[in-house]
Amino acid sequence: MNFTGAHILSIEQFERADIEVLFGTADNMEPYAQRRRITRVLEGAILGNMFFEASTRTRISFGSAFNLLGGDVRESVGMDSSSLIKGESLQDTARVLSGFSDVICMRHPEPGSVAQFASASRVPVMNGGDGSNEHPSQALLDLYTIAKELQGRGRGIDGLRIAMVGDLKFGRTVHSLCKLLSLYQNVQLTLVSPVELAMPEKYIECLRKAGHQVVITDQLEASIAHVDIVYSTRIQEERFSDRAQADLYRGRFRLNQAIYTEHCEPNTVIMHPLPRDSRVEANELDTDLDTNPNLAIFRQADNGLLVRMALFVLVLDVAHLVDRHAKDVPWHNSRDLAK
Ligand code: NCD
Repeated sequence: MNFTGAHILSIEQFERADIEVLFGTADNMEPYAQRRRITRVLEGAILGNMFFEASTRTRISFGSAFNLLGGDVRESVGMDSSSLIKGESLQDTARVLSGFSDVICMRHPEPGSVAQFASASRVPVMNGGDGSNEHPSQALLDLYTIAKELQGRGRGIDGLRIAMVGDLKFGRTVHSLCKLLSLYQNVQLTLVSPVELAMPEKYIECLRKAGHQVVITDQLEASIAHVDIVYSTRIQEERFSDRAQADLYRGRFRLNQAIYTEHCEPNTVIMHPLPRDSRVEANELDTDLDTNPNLAIFRQADNGLLVRMALFVLVLDVAHLVDRHAKDVPWHNSRDLAK
């Protein structure tokens, strides 16, 4: 794909070579994300960060990534505080906001809404999650994390063994991740969910077309026994027409240290897009895993900065200029990467 000026709406836009370009660029962002260097390459540029649905990580990560490149961020948060509530169309909103911004990130509860918005935008639009459809930047940071975690273990994305666990019907992160894994070879996927929350057929078809081995089950313990990655997800209660229905599934698949020790191969990596639901009735990833060095959930979030910075510099065509606009950090830097 040609990154310059492109909207980032779906994983379907990417080929394997594009992922290599993106991940190479993300690696180059590390000194800036870790505050060892400052770059002002996007000085003067404005990100319109439009989040019409709840978000902590994705919104702040996109915003911080843009700030770390020297750009400014303008935000609108929540449907109630935007003119969408007055009946303004997504297209009109896009026509207006793209006059104020150089790039726009958007999250919205309706599948397809971000693409609709992008169709009327004069600047690139990045999909921060459109309902239960896709979450491409999350899948990209997830795959980047998988590659990094498996580095040096003699295992890679080709030949990967992964169990996806939880709400696979409404979870947009696993939808995008399935599409992304379809670009690779010989992946073994175990899809663990309640029958009612199974992975939609179109994603399974996409995996099978790629020649991957797919096992569908509602049994957790056997499924996490021989995998490189356990990718846990939250029950997406906001997607249920009757929220009480979500209670039927919450807490169905819980992973804690005892279950991990008994069933997983040593060094199985645990991932989750976050937020993990820490309420007692859910507790899909117990806090007793927090001292397990294979819990990669906070490294995932850290990697999100790198991948989103890479998306910005590629789409705005400044990847080659980042270092030229760099300088040293004057303040005391006590940060370390999340362990
Ligand atoms: C996910 C999302 O919003 O789809 N969160 C995120 O962006 N990291 C997953 C979730 O909310 O469960």
